Amino acid sequence: MFSFAITARAGRARTGVFETPHGPVETPLFMPVGTLGSVKGISPQELREIGSQIVLGNTYHLLLRPGPERVRALGGLHRFAAYDGPWLTDSGGFQVMSLGHMRRISEEGVVFQSHINGDLIELSPEKSVAAQEALGADIIMAFDECPPYPAAPEYLEESIERTLRWLERCLEAKTRPDQALFAIAQGGVDLKLRRLSAQATVSFDTPGFAIGGLAVGEPKEAMYPAVELSTRLLPEGKPRYLMGVGHPEDLVASVALGVDMFDCVYPTRTGRFGYALVPEGRLNLKLTRHLDDPTPIDPECDCYACRHFSRAYLAHLVRADEMLGLRMLSLHNLRYLHRLMEQARAAIREGCYGEFAREFARRRFGGEV
Ligand code: GUN
Ligand code: ZN
Repeated sequence: MFSFAITARAGRARTGVFETPHGPVETPLFMPVGTLGSVKGISPQELREIGSQIVLGNTYHLLLRPGPERVRALGGLHRFAAYDGPWLTDSGGFQVMSLGHMRRISEEGVVFQSHINGDLIELSPEKSVAAQEALGADIIMAFDECPPYPAAPEYLEESIERTLRWLERCLEAKTRPDQALFAIAQGGVDLKLRRLSAQATVSFDTPGFAIGGLAVGEPKEAMYPAVELSTRLLPEGKPRYLMGVGHPEDLVASVALGVDMFDCVYPTRTGRFGYALVPEGRLNLKLTRHLDDPTPIDPECDCYACRHFSRAYLAHLVRADEMLGLRMLSLHNLRYLHRLMEQARAAIREGCYGEFAREFARRRFGGEV
């Protein structure tokens, strides 16, 4: 049910098709974040139009409201949120660390205080899997611990071991055969611990593997060796998902290292802050110089905003805090990343990923590459 077929390679980059109960998806791909069951401001119809293939939901948020059992009773995320393409849910551990007020972490799981109403809530491997089964996503994530950066090696090691025991409990608790559970390798940016974690994690032979614990504030020079080592240790024939990474240049570089899947709030969040992603970097639509510019955000982009609106109009909307402006920038930014991944897939198929990456870098960073 969850087969992954690699259809072409260029160096270590690969393109392929991952089958899910709600249809096939083509990798490499970027997943928009629909934290509460909606990609902020973007309708399911628009997601289809811009080429989104998997939408990511968060167990942590949906546990707090409206509650997984209510979602289950209303047909699971696919029907409740009226998006019948593939879904992935994150397990909650990471969001507890970054948003909740963590009270206690133990072998059993975590106790945290809700950021909504202060309630004390427990989350464990069993509870996370039960919640993710109720939500009904096609891909569910193991309940893991994502240590902060920096973390002491002794703590990292302890946390890796705990995450492995939690993975075992997740697999034990899982009952639905129509959901793929992806294991998550940790280890921060310590290469020895990354190796330890990746090797122990792959022995579980799940239908896909995630690279976790990165993009948590470490410098890029530290992140890349960890990604590079991880993709070498994770199995060739399973999708590799680099969690929380979403800057265009990180997608292009990580695909070259053999990563297949990404997610990040970056395109939607930066859009809501008034920024538009373009091949040269990022336009700040709040700047006055855009107020008289009749050209689109990106003449090469085929999104609704670029086909209909000028920079001037969008800059006006952003300045006035109009919903349409923030929505259009989110839409454009997602389309930009989806198109980048479409171009990456085409370049891999044509055996010219290196040229694609060089041309991307030339436009993004300038100069001769
Ligand atoms: N999102 C970004 N990084 C992580 C991680 O390490 N674990 C989980 N579960 N989600 C993430
Ligand atoms: Zn656009």
